[in-house]
Amino acid sequence: MRVTCSPKDGQKPGTSGLRKKTKVFMSEGYLETFVQSIFDATGGAKGKTYVVGGDGRYFNERAAQVILKMAAANGARRVIVGQYALLSTPAASHLIRLNHADGGIILSASHNPGGLEADFGVKFNTANGGPAPEAMTEAIHARTKVIDEYFIADAADVNLSRIGTQEIGGMEISVIDPVADYAALMENLFDFDAIRAMFARGFRMRFDAMCAVTGPYAREILENRLGAAPGTVVNAEPLPDFGGMHPDPNPTWAHDLMERMFGPEAPDLGAASDGDGDRHMIVGRGIYVAPSDGFAVLAANAHLAPGYRDGLKGVARSMPTSAAVDRVAAALGIGCHETPTGWKFFGNLLDSGRATLCGEESFGAGSDHVREKDGLWAVLLWLNILAERTESVSEILNGHWRRFGRNYYSRHDYEALPSDVAEAVLATLRAKLPELPGQEIAGLTVAAADDFAYADPVDGSVSRGQGLRIVFTDGSRVVLRLSGTGTEGATIRLYLERHVAGPDGLSEEVQTALAPVLEAAETLAGIRSRTGRAGPDVIT
Ligand code: G6P
Ligand code: ZN
Repeated sequence: MRVTCSPKDGQKPGTSGLRKKTKVFMSEGYLETFVQSIFDATGGAKGKTYVVGGDGRYFNERAAQVILKMAAANGARRVIVGQYALLSTPAASHLIRLNHADGGIILSASHNPGGLEADFGVKFNTANGGPAPEAMTEAIHARTKVIDEYFIADAADVNLSRIGTQEIGGMEISVIDPVADYAALMENLFDFDAIRAMFARGFRMRFDAMCAVTGPYAREILENRLGAAPGTVVNAEPLPDFGGMHPDPNPTWAHDLMERMFGPEAPDLGAASDGDGDRHMIVGRGIYVAPSDGFAVLAANAHLAPGYRDGLKGVARSMPTSAAVDRVAAALGIGCHETPTGWKFFGNLLDSGRATLCGEESFGAGSDHVREKDGLWAVLLWLNILAERTESVSEILNGHWRRFGRNYYSRHDYEALPSDVAEAVLATLRAKLPELPGQEIAGLTVAAADDFAYADPVDGSVSRGQGLRIVFTDGSRVVLRLSGTGTEGATIRLYLERHVAGPDGLSEEVQTALAPVLEAAETLAGIRSRTGRAGPDVIT
C-alpha cells in the first residue's frame, strides 16, 4: 500500500540515531517517514535482509510491527526480529554480522528514560553491524526533507511472541530468541568453566539490569549458564518505562547498587547496564571503578580470556577518556588510537584490524566481536579476569595503579545551559589557546593546547572541533567540549585528569587529587563565573 505523506521537521539523526519524545514518534506518519527515508537513502529495501529489535521501551513493539510491514511493502527478502521485538544493541550488531544482513533498525534511546512522556529512538546500523557513518545519516536526513510517500503492507500484525518463521506478502520473518546467538558468542570469547567454578566457590555478584533490556541476557548467561545464585540479576524484567528508573549505569543513577557495594553485605562484584545494553558500570566491594580505569584494566588483562589469548592488535579510546590505557598499550608494545567522542569513530579501526579493544569515559567498552560497545561483554571479561587472577576488584585495581601509576580522573557536567552561553565559554577559551603554551595557570605550566582534530587513518576523513585540550608540563590535562547527545539546551563537559606515578599518593580521594587541575580549569575557562552556576550538575 502506498501512502502519501509530507516531510516532518527535525528528522536529523544525532550522535546515535534519531531521538525524540515518544509522542513525537507516535504522531501520524512520523516513524513511517523516517523508516522510508532509511530505505530510500540506502538504495531501497528490495531483496535485502534486516535485523529489527529494540530495548523494550514504550512503543517498541508497535514500532517493530510498522517496520516489518514497511519492509515487506518495500520488497525486503527477510527480517530477523527478536521475540517481543527485544534485542540489545550489541546483540543486534552481532545478528547483523552473523546473518550477513544488509543492515539493522534498532529501536532505542539508549540510557534516556522511556514511557509515553519520555524518549524513543530509531537507529540504522550497516552491514558491518556498526552505526551508520555520518555520510549515510546525512543522506537519510536529506531524504526526510523531501519525502512524499511511504509503503506499508496492509497485513495483520506479526505474532511476535511465537519463535519461528512467518511471512507478510512473501517476506520471510524470523522471530528469534533474542539471547541465544549472543550468549553463544560470549561462550566463545570467555572461559565459562572458570567463571562457573568461581561462582561455585561462593563468589557473589549483583547485576542491576535497571528494568531494561539486559535482564533476560544477564539471567540466561549469569544465572543459567554460569551458575550465579538466583536473584543475582535484579530489576531483570524489561519494562516499557524502565520501572520509572533512569537506566544509565553511573554512580548517580545506579545509586542503589552503589549503596549496596559500599554496605556491610556487599557482594564481590557489582555491575549495571543501560537501557539498550551497550554501557556498563563496575563496582567492587567498597570500590568504584571509573570507566577509564576499568578500560585500562581490561586491556592489561584481556589475554586471560580465551577470545583474546593471542593478544591485542591495538587499542583505541576517545580523546577525553583518560590516558590510563595509553600506559598499558606502551607496556604491551601495541598501538593506541585517540578518536573523537562517539562509537562510530572506532568502526574503521576495528574493521581494519588496528584495534581489538575500544573504550570511552562515558561507561562504554567493547571489542571487535561486534561493532557497538557492549555492557555485558565488559562484565563477562571482568568475571573472566577475576576467575583467573583470584584477586578482588580492589586488589586488581590497586595492583594496576602500582604498576602503571594512577590517572586521577573526573568529568564535571554543566547541564541545560543556554546554548549561546555554553558556546561563548568554549569560543573564549578557543581564542586563547595559541598563546597558552609556556604560561603558568594556577601554579601549573601549560605544555600544549589545541582544538582536537582527528584524521581517520583508514579513510583519511578529518573531523575538526572535537574538544579543547590543555596539557600541563606535569602531564595533567583539562578538556572541554559540548555534549553531542543532550536534548535540552547545551551541556558543557569538563574533563580533569592528573597522573601520579606512585608508589606514594595512589589512594587519594579523587576530587581532592584533582583540585589543582580544577582550579586551573576555572582560571582558564571561567565556567562558573560565566554561567553563573555554583558547580556542576553531575560529577562522574
Ligand atoms: C553515546 C555515544 C558515545 C559517547 C556518549 C557521550 O553513548 O555512543 O560514544 O561517548 O554518547 O557523548 P556526549 O557527546 O554526550 O559526550
Ligand atoms: Zn546505550
